Amino acid sequence: MDWKRNREHDYIRPMHSDIRSQLARADGTVTDCLGRNHMSISEGLLEKEDLRSRLFGETWRTLIPEVFRDVPAYYDKGNAVASLGSCSRWSAKFATAIGQHLPPGANVLDVCSGTHDIPLRLLANDPTLEIHAVDGSPHMTAEGQRRARERNLVIHARVCDAHALPFSDNSFDAVTLQFASRHLEIIRAFKEIYRVLKPGGIFCHNDMLRPASRVVELPYLAYLRFSVWFTAKLFGSSAESIKCVGYFANAIRHFYTPRELAELLEGVGFAGIESRSVLTGIMSYHISHKPMAA
Ligand SMILES: C[S@@+](CC[C@H](N)C(=O)[O-])C[C@H]1O[C@@H](n2cnc3c(N)ncnc32)[C@H](O)[C@@H]1O
Repeated sequence: MDWKRNREHDYIRPMHSDIRSQLARADGTVTDCLGRNHMSISEGLLEKEDLRSRLFGETWRTLIPEVFRDVPAYYDKGNAVASLGSCSRWSAKFATAIGQHLPPGANVLDVCSGTHDIPLRLLANDPTLEIHAVDGSPHMTAEGQRRARERNLVIHARVCDAHALPFSDNSFDAVTLQFASRHLEIIRAFKEIYRVLKPGGIFCHNDMLRPASRVVELPYLAYLRFSVWFTAKLFGSSAESIKCVGYFANAIRHFYTPRELAELLEGVGFAGIESRSVLTGIMSYHISHKPMAA
């Protein structure tokens, strides 16, 4: 697919903002001694990432871990109610698309794996896959491991931060990330994923994005505010989850459209991006490749 690049250039000016200095610290290899960053991400997207970090950084660090302490028991039902079943149908499509790219026995890492939704779907289609899973929440991971044991499946799970993956460079044939990048410093996370992928490996991303059409976006955000509040009340969620009701819709309002997400992937170094979206981005998946020559 030919993604148009707008205002995109090699980023060679000294970095001033918080997110830029964090990126510099996260990966010394892209920053030279003058503090210049050679990633090819447009100024507009770097500013947007900076704003996300300033608006939501505190929520990501303090509230989100508490929310996912409470959620495992009703995660699937909550998603089904809030999305009227569409999350699960879309995940099934995403897993089928990933499976078409994976040879038998492929080595896959699922980042922000939660209750292992994607690993369980992939293993149901191909039990020869070797799947590793990481998540920041011990509670979500424990529920995922319970589900794997129930099905006699093995998923190698670790609890860790998605921005610092405990794996060597070039380790995996595929990395997957579903329904979580809204809660992450996405450029840092994508760079980590790029690092642990083998050259030629694929990165499969699926999330609720910001719809490209305002006509879709406005009613969608209103629906999201109501459905997250309704779900939290219905399942008797914790005080932390109730506090996050507004955050979920705001996080989407400040998130990326499908086109912007593809530009970010390209900026980090991924190529050959294939993407599918529902209603201009309500849900959207992107499958991209780490070039062989990387
Ligand atoms: C909405 S759940 C999605 C889980 C799973 N990928 C799925 O599709 O069902 C988001 C997950 O991201 C995890 N998460 C959020 N921030 C994280 C971080 N910085 N590092 C690792 N995991 C994180 C949460 O613990 C939670 O399990």
